[in-house]
Amino acid sequence: MTSILFIYPLLLAMVNSQSPCDELSLVDRAEWGAQEPSAITNLTNKPLSFVVMHHSYYPLSCYDDDSCIERVKDIQDFHQNTQNWDDIGFHFLVGENGKVYEGRGWNRQAAHSTGWNNGAYGVCIIGDFTRAPPNEKALNAVRLWIECGIKLGHIKEDHYIITHRQSQRPHYTDCPGDNMFGIVRKWPRFCSFQNSGAPLAANKTQIALATEFCEKQISPLSAASTNLATSLIMFYLLLIHFL
Ligand SMILES: *[C@@H]1O[C@H](CO)[C@@H](O)[C@H](O)[C@H]1NC(C)=O
Ligand SMILES: *[C@@H]1O[C@H](CO)[C@@H](O)[C@H](O)[C@H]1NC(C)=O
Repeated sequence: MTSILFIYPLLLAMVNSQSPCDELSLVDRAEWGAQEPSAITNLTNKPLSFVVMHHSYYPLSCYDDDSCIERVKDIQDFHQNTQNWDDIGFHFLVGENGKVYEGRGWNRQAAHSTGWNNGAYGVCIIGDFTRAPPNEKALNAVRLWIECGIKLGHIKEDHYIITHRQSQRPHYTDCPGDNMFGIVRKWPRFCSFQNSGAPLAANKTQIALATEFCEKQISPLSAASTNLATSLIMFYLLLIHFL
């Protein structure tokens, strides 16, 4: 009986736990004052299996709402008017104020990593992380954003996280900086796939190669969570039995 009293609030807490989307502090395009895109191409492979992590390198870190909005606008201006892209290159951007800024958003192809733009969300933490890592607020915002993307059906539960440097031939870019890379590589869904730079065989894409690689490296979450649930149930049955 005491065990039931103990389990019940625990189960309630699990069911009622806040959705990651509610916890996420998301600033949409209208809120940060985005310019209109010059063209829109929709994503055609959702839900996506990959998230590619970037840093902006420049502009530098921002820690308050005003300067983060200024940075996001500067990045859009650079991408549209200097690079001549249709819109800001990233799907989402993250400030060290802990907020996530909508770039191209959940539904549009972006311009963050050549060869990956229709199969991976590109997320950029604003700042230069070659010498210091991003702060915990920004990292936490990225994790919440991924959880929210899974909840909303944009990102596969069995997704993989890589970094910009891995998506291109070796030494093409240092992005997202050694310090951010050092953190992201410890995340559970990080996959160590590296684009070898070798020409692709006919009908192959980097994303197809990476999927084959990552599937072998990381076991599906669904299986892991089933195992966890089974162990928890066994644990409680034993507890009930002995109390
Ligand atoms: C892209 O998707 C939006 C809805 O998200 C839709 O309104 C629009 O027509 C689509 N564009 C194309 C070219 O398919
Ligand atoms: C690529 O795939 C298509 C359809 O799957 C096939 O018709 C075509 O022959 C393939 N091309 C090569 C070079 O393998």
